[in-house]
Amino acid sequence: MNILISHTHAQSAKRWHEEMLMLLPNASVKVWPDVEQGWADYAIGWQPPKELFISQNKLKAFFSAAAGVDHLLKNPALPKGLPIIRLEDAGMGLQMAEYCLLEVGRQYHRRDDYLAQQHAQTWGFLKSEKRSEYVVGIFGAGVLAKEIVKGLTSFGYRSQTYSRSSTQALADFLSTSRVLILCAPLTPETQDYFNAERFAMLPKGAYVINVARGGLVVDDDLLAAMDSGHLSGATLDVFREEPLPKTHRFWLHPKIRMTPHVSAVTLIGPSTKQVAMKLDRYSKGEPITGLVDRKKGY
Ligand SMILES: NC(=O)c1ccc[n+]([C@@H]2O[C@H](COP(=O)([O-])OP(=O)(O)OC[C@H]3O[C@@H](n4cnc5c(N)ncnc54)[C@H](OP(=O)(O)O)[C@@H]3O)[C@@H](O)[C@H]2O)c1
Repeated sequence: MNILISHTHAQSAKRWHEEMLMLLPNASVKVWPDVEQGWADYAIGWQPPKELFISQNKLKAFFSAAAGVDHLLKNPALPKGLPIIRLEDAGMGLQMAEYCLLEVGRQYHRRDDYLAQQHAQTWGFLKSEKRSEYVVGIFGAGVLAKEIVKGLTSFGYRSQTYSRSSTQALADFLSTSRVLILCAPLTPETQDYFNAERFAMLPKGAYVINVARGGLVVDDDLLAAMDSGHLSGATLDVFREEPLPKTHRFWLHPKIRMTPHVSAVTLIGPSTKQVAMKLDRYSKGEPITGLVDRKKGY
């Protein structure tokens, strides 16, 4: 079996190469672009260039080195019928759960109000609501959302998820979510999903956390909802354009907290183990999970 690695970071490509050689000792493994035309049976990668799909015209499947495949599906040379298998959790769920818990906890425990008190040199107890009445809504109910729910539950928060297959009405889900966490893929359906109309459905003072993809949110509508006082703020890990352009209003907005797409990074150890296991099974015709539905876009 011939396996090709393609990664935007040379150091990561090197790690993937070493690990795959160790995990699949009978396979030949090369790193793009040092490969002859039509050599690879399988490719593994993150943001592969279109030239890879043009040169490697005998691929049987592509294994994404990420959970989200929106970038990959936009690749103009991606062959129509090529099976794509994505990463499932592989250590990202726990990271994302911790990230969201930190942000939810900061909101619930009124840490910004305490900071304002501190700066005003005021000593005072601020009442919190009953935790069991503080509902956190997660848009998405997949592999990563499930880990967020686990984390929230273990700290006594109430949570609810919303997905394509939900029976709960969107209006009901949004109007009861004090914190809204976005954890769904970017697809033609979710592109620009969170606009003025949907932000208006959230209760006054709601807080938004986006760990999914920037394209789910209409930036100007989010800013307007915060500036009008309807939303209390937002924590954003992902952006429509990354790195976020220096001129973007998000950078210096007082109600926004930002991180540079780090809420759940790909961990090479668990990821290579998962991909090697799936590759082995797939090559033998055995069933695997994580096969992307190209029609749905995730
Ligand atoms: N910020 C980061 O560092 C980072 C890291 C990893 C992943 N991510 C993002 O997180 C996303 C989720 O990952 P995952 O592994 O949990 O994905 P997943 O297991 O495929 O779950 C996706 C969930 O989103 C729901 N969904 C899809 N389209 C929807 C729509 N139109 N309306 C409502 N719900 C919809 C799905 O609904 P059904 O259950 O009905 O199918 C499913 O519950 C990834 O796609 C990626 O973009 C971000």
